[in-house]
Amino acid sequence: MKTMIIKPCKAIHGTAELPGDKSISHRAAILSSLAKGRTEIRRFLFSDDCLVTLSALKAMGVGVRIFRREHRVVIDSSGVLCPPMGSLNMNESGTSARMLMGLLAGQGFASRLTGAPSLLKRPMARVIKPLSLMGAGIQARRKGGKDYLPVSIRPSVLHGICWRQEVASAQVKSALLLAGLFAQGETCVHEAVMTRDHTERMLRFFGADLRMSGGGIVVKGGELTSPGFVIVPGDISSAAFFIVAALVLKGSRLVLKHVGVNPTRTGAIRVLQRMGGRIRLVSRQKGYEPAADLDIRFSRLCGTRIRSAEIPSLIDELPVLMVAASLAEGRTVIEGAGELRVKETDRIRSMSWNLKRAGVKIGTKVAAGREDIVITGSGGIKGAHFRSFGDHRTAMSMYVAALAASGVSSLDDPACVGKSFPEYFSVFKHLIAR
Ligand code: S3P
Repeated sequence: MKTMIIKPCKAIHGTAELPGDKSISHRAAILSSLAKGRTEIRRFLFSDDCLVTLSALKAMGVGVRIFRREHRVVIDSSGVLCPPMGSLNMNESGTSARMLMGLLAGQGFASRLTGAPSLLKRPMARVIKPLSLMGAGIQARRKGGKDYLPVSIRPSVLHGICWRQEVASAQVKSALLLAGLFAQGETCVHEAVMTRDHTERMLRFFGADLRMSGGGIVVKGGELTSPGFVIVPGDISSAAFFIVAALVLKGSRLVLKHVGVNPTRTGAIRVLQRMGGRIRLVSRQKGYEPAADLDIRFSRLCGTRIRSAEIPSLIDELPVLMVAASLAEGRTVIEGAGELRVKETDRIRSMSWNLKRAGVKIGTKVAAGREDIVITGSGGIKGAHFRSFGDHRTAMSMYVAALAASGVSSLDDPACVGKSFPEYFSVFKHLIAR
């Protein structure tokens, strides 16, 4: 897709049902492949990243049937994975790479994971180190003393360990829990700050022996049982772009149906409410994952302080929260945002570059090993030429900024949104009232 021209818009109005959650779609596919029999996954997210996970599972002998128009995947599994032919290409999906590394570490066959250039630059030691302590034989590409993809994994006998997370990462936690299913004894993961718990919830839903003990998550090996079908709730990370757009565009009113509201993921809602955002959770639905409809109205936002402990619950929403902060009254400080540097792109750099172009005062402060972002909201931003930096969330955030800008903007490489939300622009189109 060529550069997109974006005109400012007055407001957004209406009701939308957004695609299924990316994190939950990955997990549903992986656990369905380990449970003998058939599992139907409804509202599966057909984005580039989730398709990477499906292809890898298919390459390991799992029956994967895709019904794209119905947002449905049917998985048929013998409960056992087979050696793949050749390398498994993770393309740009960090979640697939890290979670599958945990899964593959405990298989009785050798494998190799590789990826697209952007993924080859992302840190893998955080997952290789604990898996190696479990006995995994993982050989990574070393550069400057650090571990990167491609990795080769030898068949090994794993044993459970008790691991205290060094980096707050749900991908790492998930890799260890998946490896724990194939390890001797118990595997325990302790987190200083709780990260998204979708793997724990999905493991329980599939009947795994998982419990909380002494503040840690403990899993034991054993077979999984398919619940028959899994319904994936809407992605709160995708919803965040629409929430911010409705909050900042004067006169907007929006209802988003059946969005996942797992408390480990709703930090952005809490922060936006604190900033003065009128967001109501209605028609709450219980299940293996909680969901609700979100009712959002235009609001006058003011700056806030986001603490380090809140970061895991809103890590993927930080780019669009930076847009909200730019349009709010007063100063916003985001403490301990350093993890943004190792996402699909360096999101502190990509968002600072773009927001500065839009006339926003944004800077960073590094002290005592912590990196903070400081944004001084001016209540307005200018239209400009924005760059995606190949990153879906930067592109989607700057699209929201462009809708709220005072002049016409453009955005390069809008197609990169396919990583998590291929229908992003068309959903917006339906809601925009010019
Ligand atoms: C994810 C965890 C987060 C998040 C990513 C998806 C997951 O990454 O940023 O988009 O599905 O577990 P980290 O585990 O690196 O924090």
